[in-house]
Amino acid sequence: MNGRPNGLIIAIDGPSGAGKSTIARLLANRLGYLQIDTGAMYRAVAFLVSQAGIDPSDVDAVEQLCDSANIRLDCSNGSQRVFANGQDVTELIRTPEMSLMTSRISALKPVRESMMMLQRRMGRDGGVVLEGRDIGTAVFPDAELKFFLFASPEERGKRRFAELVGNGEQVTLEETIEAVSRRDHQDSQRDLAPLRQAEDAIPVDSSRSSIDEVLNKMEDIVRKKIHQAGTTI
Ligand code: DC
Repeated sequence: MNGRPNGLIIAIDGPSGAGKSTIARLLANRLGYLQIDTGAMYRAVAFLVSQAGIDPSDVDAVEQLCDSANIRLDCSNGSQRVFANGQDVTELIRTPEMSLMTSRISALKPVRESMMMLQRRMGRDGGVVLEGRDIGTAVFPDAELKFFLFASPEERGKRRFAELVGNGEQVTLEETIEAVSRRDHQDSQRDLAPLRQAEDAIPVDSSRSSIDEVLNKMEDIVRKKIHQAGTTI
């Protein structure tokens, strides 16, 4: 047994656009696990900061907001909805402006501390697939399985572009690739919990593989681990 009542903790970290959300959702579905999109949680905080008109460089005001914020992920109807202080912000947090704001506020200590506490509470019993940037390095360094999912910036830019255009956003491919690179830089250069691969994470390159190929490969690894751990979950 792995010692957690609901199964393993599976961490999927990596840069934006590598396919983490899709893979995490499908993997969680196949395993009957809960998906926890930690990026969506940071995005929900960014939404509240922006809605309150708080300057993201005003760390005290952001901290106060975090102390009273109620961020919730609801997976009860098969798809994940994100709530910030009771408001469904699932679609509102996906704009390019929110992405940039999230990258800024997620570098702040009080924001990371409060989200990390919440994520640990949500995941500690296992049976979860958590996706983010620092799950394997900071949130659950003792996760039973860690993946680092990556792809080239051009490939990730193309995927993000298709997603944004699909959402009706007016953007060009060049500016999307540029925004992806800018965010990579901000996420990996920050002092607190920067994006990096945990030493014991399994690297998975999604540049030239289909979602299904990546998913099957990861599921195989998970099933072996579950078998080794001697749990049926
Ligand atoms: O995965 P995403 O694109 O929705 O993440 C949005 C932002 O949140 C991204 O700039 C990195 C940040 N983030 C983070 O700092 N730590 C996490 N665990 C998840 C996301």
